[in-house]
Amino acid sequence: MSLSPKRIPADLLPIMDALTRIGRDVAGIIARGALGDSLSVEVGENSDGDGQKALDVMADELFEAALRETAVKYYASEEQEVVLDLGEGKYALAIDPLDGSSNIDVNVSIGTIFSIFEAKDGAEESFLRPAHEQVAGGYIVFGPQTGMAVTFGDGVLIYAMDPASGEFLLVEEDKQIVPSSKEFAINASNRRHWVKGARSYIEECEAGETGSKGKNMNMRWVGSLVAEAHRILTRGGVFLYPADERKGYENGRLRMTYECAPIAFLIEQAGGEAHDGVTRILDKTAPELHARTPLVFGSVEEVRSVKAHYEA
Ligand code: AHG
Ligand code: MN
Ligand code: MN
Repeated sequence: MSLSPKRIPADLLPIMDALTRIGRDVAGIIARGALGDSLSVEVGENSDGDGQKALDVMADELFEAALRETAVKYYASEEQEVVLDLGEGKYALAIDPLDGSSNIDVNVSIGTIFSIFEAKDGAEESFLRPAHEQVAGGYIVFGPQTGMAVTFGDGVLIYAMDPASGEFLLVEEDKQIVPSSKEFAINASNRRHWVKGARSYIEECEAGETGSKGKNMNMRWVGSLVAEAHRILTRGGVFLYPADERKGYENGRLRMTYECAPIAFLIEQAGGEAHDGVTRILDKTAPELHARTPLVFGSVEEVRSVKAHYEA
């Protein structure tokens, strides 16, 4: 067992155990860095047209193989075109096996994001449904410390991996996001492409105490959604990946099924909020497996302020 089982629903425990076991193994591979094979070498393209790196594919294969031994019937991966039927089981699991691919090999936090539903009759039907039907959502973060944040719909649990044993130990039982914050995260290089609401909110942040916010803000952008989510869970803040005018970015960059739905579930369970500028993420249904959605999440006050800018 790679996981302290306290507070995990019994029939999800073998799935969580498989996820953390592979999390431990992937953390070990990443920690070897340049002493091992190059993890960032491009090995292909996924169905989204994103370049696939060696570690994207390796992580996907490891998670798929481990989950075959569990109650996961349907496996939907960002790195695979279609949903896989893994055999008998009650659950459907969606995964971004390796989030933050551009940060592989630069020794910056990356992660794995997962979302679990009860399986329905069809493979795709098990995922194309309102995000609030998730039974679990979470991430594993590979950084200076390997850890996990997960919700089963009853608060957010934080685990830390003991590097000596590879075991994930529960370190916090009810993580809460502070409601007010002074940190925002957005890829500002896309400013000229942003939709109006995002642009005016960021202008207000930049105006600091000379603007209507009346307080100075600070900016952080890691480029790994998992790392931003972990920072925001830990000390608050707001994250935006808005829709923009570039071709293919009409719905932003992040995928609803593998990234936005589980992060929104976690954030709401921690007392934060998540929307796409207009609609609550957990009320959305992905129109197709690899569909994207704009994403805004974090501390309540800032997330609501972003919404007000979109509505203005
Ligand atoms: P992935 O590595 O799974 O493709 O996800 C990368 C995502 C996310 O982690 C990050 O927030 C965002 O892409 C960064 O996008 P930009 O390079 O456009 O800033
Ligand atoms: Mn990702
Ligand atoms: Mn990925």
